[in-house]
Amino acid sequence: MPLAEPLPIVLYPDPFLNQKARALTDAEFASGKAGGWNLAELVDRMKATMYDAEGIGLAAPQVGVGLRLFLMDISENRDAAIAVFNPELLDMDGSEDAEEGCLSIPDVRASVKRAQSLKLKGRDIRGEPFELNAEDLLARVIQHENDHLDGILFITKIGMAAKFMQRRKLAALEDDYELLKRRKTKGK
Ligand code: NI
Repeated sequence: MPLAEPLPIVLYPDPFLNQKARALTDAEFASGKAGGWNLAELVDRMKATMYDAEGIGLAAPQVGVGLRLFLMDISENRDAAIAVFNPELLDMDGSEDAEEGCLSIPDVRASVKRAQSLKLKGRDIRGEPFELNAEDLLARVIQHENDHLDGILFITKIGMAAKFMQRRKLAALEDDYELLKRRKTKGK
């Protein structure tokens, strides 16, 4: 089956990435529609976006959709994506440092401290509740993606030294964003 068309990824420092996303209602699950999207189509296009960009997670705000939804797939074959709606993170335990990146902040990588294990509660695309226990990389992806739903980027959780190391790449992204914004304003 051919993949759906990828969506453009919202890049740092677009302020949309700092907004809190909203939960889906039971009525939206029942209708299969929310935020102007058919949910099945949104998930398909987010999957295509994540695989195209070679990511292991993607949150809806990263494609400009302010809904509490993220995808994750840490499988080697890249064929086991799980869509999590209205996630809740419980029983966060332990602590682990590891390097992270983000599709919205290209080329920037830095170490972030995260809980080592947690329980994820969420809803599937039909609104059916499910739970899973996660540790290590999967727990990390869940925490990173869930942060996106609260408008939090991983670079706000890295140390001063790491931020200093990445400052040129961040500044370049900031310059690109300003340039794009100015071009858009001129085009009006
Ligand atoms: Ni990210």
